[in-house]
Amino acid sequence: MKTFIKNKNTISEKDNLIILVENSNNLSNLDLEKKEINYINDRLKKNDEIITINQYNREIIILRPKKNDDTNLYLEETRCLGFKVHEQIKKNSSVVVQNLSEGVINTFAFLEGLALSNYNFEEYKTKKDESKLHTVFVNDSLKEDKLNEIEKIVEAVKITRDLVNTPFSHLKAIDLANKAKKAGDESGFKTTIFTKKKIESLKMGGLLAVNQGSIDEPTFSILEWKPANATNKKPIILVGKGVVYDTGGLSLKPTANSMDIMKVDMAGAGTVIGAMHAIANNNIQKYVIGLIPATDNRPSGNAYAPGDVVTMYDGTTVEVLNTDAEGRMILADALSYAHKYDPELVIDLATLTGSAANTIGHFGIVSMQENARKEHDLLEKSGHNTHERLAEMPFWKDYDELIKSDIADIKNLGGPFGGAITAGKFLAHFIKYPWIHLDIAGPAWVSSKYQYRSKGATGMGVRLLYNFIKNR
Ligand code: BES
Ligand code: ZN
Ligand code: ZN
Repeated sequence: MKTFIKNKNTISEKDNLIILVENSNNLSNLDLEKKEINYINDRLKKNDEIITINQYNREIIILRPKKNDDTNLYLEETRCLGFKVHEQIKKNSSVVVQNLSEGVINTFAFLEGLALSNYNFEEYKTKKDESKLHTVFVNDSLKEDKLNEIEKIVEAVKITRDLVNTPFSHLKAIDLANKAKKAGDESGFKTTIFTKKKIESLKMGGLLAVNQGSIDEPTFSILEWKPANATNKKPIILVGKGVVYDTGGLSLKPTANSMDIMKVDMAGAGTVIGAMHAIANNNIQKYVIGLIPATDNRPSGNAYAPGDVVTMYDGTTVEVLNTDAEGRMILADALSYAHKYDPELVIDLATLTGSAANTIGHFGIVSMQENARKEHDLLEKSGHNTHERLAEMPFWKDYDELIKSDIADIKNLGGPFGGAITAGKFLAHFIKYPWIHLDIAGPAWVSSKYQYRSKGATGMGVRLLYNFIKNR
């Protein structure tokens, strides 16, 4: 279900209200009784963030986010307040948001937090949850185009979450490719889908090796957004890991807390599709390409096996020592393929390693870069703006040693430590352009709600990429 965010100039006495205030001075503008104003003042003095007035025909909720000298953290506090208040008002079908803080509180961030909270994955529920907001009316100086922008960002995050929450049996590689196409048709980017024959003729050895044990064919999708007035000649390329299900292959995963959530393993691809949707739908004048290699990773009589040597798309030979390190195999081919576009910058997103998730949890994104110091700094800034933060790993030369193979050019397994970094080093072997690697294994999925990000798929990364590309 879509939440409609709309402007509203007049407020009636039946409208449920959310009022953003900075201090009690602003309250005089409201049509409240003296007793009510006294009560609110009292609560504000006690530093309450949420103050509720229940009138007989409506609810009025006064909100004041906790002060923070750090602008970005204040924005995040405001989004989180959107989440907290959503729990309280979701039973009402509509609400009017009014900002009386004279610009101190950011309405955009508040609406983002509120609308991002208005999500449940209900595709497979026979009885749908009725307690959701249908319309958010906004009584604020925020222009119509800004409201549309928020709505489109939230919609894109929903696309990503829906894709990641969809179980494997409903989302094979070909389904993922078709979903990308559908997102493109809706928002304006063009999608080209390579199926197995084409992938074979291109000799994408990494993607084909991972797919070898599967009964379903792989796909390789190219998403292209090339607006007429793009400010960049060379494209920015987003590459997303599209492992629609990761059993580990012959290096089989255990089930509990491991294989059972592995439908998440196409979250990189889902994030690229969501970000492309947000960019195209908001008509951002930047030339952007998405590349999505997709397959499941399943064992069978024909599956690739530990000890195999695989020749990749660029000719590199790889000794496979663990078939569960499959993400790097399919990404490597996509990263090699990206050279043909002579890109300005390539960013890949992948649920690549348990090591990344263990290192920082779900609070942010593990990052690495090569030839892209400045770009990474800018992306980091977007990370703080959107609270989809980066934690950059060391990427010292010393780690290169750990992926050297005795019998091939490199191996797909690192040493006993730094698993996220050696995975990154494996990918770095295939790039010559400015490149940023984002390992989203931690934040792509949460087992309990992390504020407005929803339980299960979070969609983290979509707002980051949108903000970064828009502001370049
Ligand atoms: N898809 C997993 C990584 C993952 C772990 C994603 C947890 C989401 C949550 C990846 O393909 C994998 O299995 N990586 C292995 C690599 C190892 C065999 C070198 C890992 O991290 O254990
Ligand atoms: Zn794996
Ligand atoms: Zn995987």
